[in-house]
Amino acid sequence: MSEIKKIKEQYTSKLDELLDQNKLNIIKTELFGKNGIISTRFKQLGSINEKERKSYATELNLLKNELQELISKKNEEIQNEEINKKLNNDKIDVTLPGRSYFAGKIHPVSQVIDEVTSIFSEIGFSVEEGPDIENEYYNFSALNTPDNHPARDMHDTFYLEHSKDLLLRTHTSPVQIRTMLKGKPPFKIIAPGRTYRHDSDQTHSPMFHQLEGLHIDKNINMGHLKGCLYYFVKKFFEVDKVKIRFRPSHFPFTEPSAEVDIGYKIQDGKIKIGEGDKWLEILGCGMVHPNVLKNAKVNPKQFQGYAFGVGIDRLAMLKYGINDLRAFFESDIRWLEFYGFDPLDIPTNYRGLSR
Ligand code: DAH
Repeated sequence: MSEIKKIKEQYTSKLDELLDQNKLNIIKTELFGKNGIISTRFKQLGSINEKERKSYATELNLLKNELQELISKKNEEIQNEEINKKLNNDKIDVTLPGRSYFAGKIHPVSQVIDEVTSIFSEIGFSVEEGPDIENEYYNFSALNTPDNHPARDMHDTFYLEHSKDLLLRTHTSPVQIRTMLKGKPPFKIIAPGRTYRHDSDQTHSPMFHQLEGLHIDKNINMGHLKGCLYYFVKKFFEVDKVKIRFRPSHFPFTEPSAEVDIGYKIQDGKIKIGEGDKWLEILGCGMVHPNVLKNAKVNPKQFQGYAFGVGIDRLAMLKYGINDLRAFFESDIRWLEFYGFDPLDIPTNYRGLSR
C-alpha cells in the first residue's frame, strides 16, 4: 500500500471517531502543523526525482483537500453538538431579579438654571450668553467701573497670563453690554453662566454661577424691577407670600442701586423662606446707569431700565438645603446621587436647609 493511502486510511478512521474540539486540534496539528505529516511531505517534494514528483504531488494535494474537508466537517459537528448541549442544559430562572442600571442625575446648578430660565421666560425674558474669557472693557470699563475700583485688583480677578486685557469674567454683567451692542432696544434678557473670583471658603468658590437680568425699554422704572423680583422669588421658592427688602447699595453700573434680602426663619431645623424676621441677601440690582447705556450705544434720554445679578449656586443651596458650596464642584458621584435630580422629575418638594 502506498504511503499516501496509509495516511489517508489512518486519519479517515481517526476523524470518524467521537472527538471533542481538543482532540480535533491535536489531529490538525499532526497533519498540518509546522512539522505535520502533510506539511513535511510538501517540503520534501523538491528531493523526489522529477518523474515521480508530479503524480506524487497530485496525490498529496488530493489527500490534503480530503483531510481538510473532513476536519472542517468534524469541526462543524462538534460546534453544533456544543450548542445543543447548552440549549438542553441552560434553563432561564424567571424569578431572578432584573439587572439594575445606573441612571445619571442632573446637577443642582443645572436644575436651578433650568428652573430660573423657565420662570423668566414665562414673563418675556429671552436667554443670552457671553464668553467666560472676557476683556477688561466689557467686564469693567463699559460697565462704568472706574480704573481704580478694587474689583479690578489682581487679588480679586483672574487675569490671563501675559495679558493685561483678558480675564475670567468676574460677573455676568458684561453680557448686558454685548447684548445691547448687537441689537436695538427694547431688551429683555437673562444671562446665566459661569463667573470667577479669587475667593474660596464654605460659601465661596473661585468658579461660581450667576444669572444676569436686563430690561430696557421706554418708561421702565423701579416699580417694574420690584414687581419682577417679587414674581421671581415667589415662583422660585414656591411660596404665595414673600417678605423682600430693598437695601440701598452701590454698584458702578446702576443708579440707584440696591441689594435685595429675603425674609426667612428656621422652623424645626429647616429654613422657611419668605417669612420670619431674619434676612438673607440674594441679589444685587438697580436702574442701569446712563453711562452704561451710552457705552452700549443706547440713548439714555429715550430708553432706561433695570438690571439685576443673582448668585445661582446660592439659590440652589437655599432651595435644596445644601450647606457647603465647595461640594458642588468636587464631582463626587455619591454627592450627586443624593442631591441631583432625576432627568424626568419636576421638583415640587422643598427639602429646606438641614442644620
Ligand atoms: N454684577 C454684580 C456682582 O457680581 C451683581 C449685580 C448688581 C448685577 C447690580 C446687576 C446689577 O446687573 O444691576 O456683584
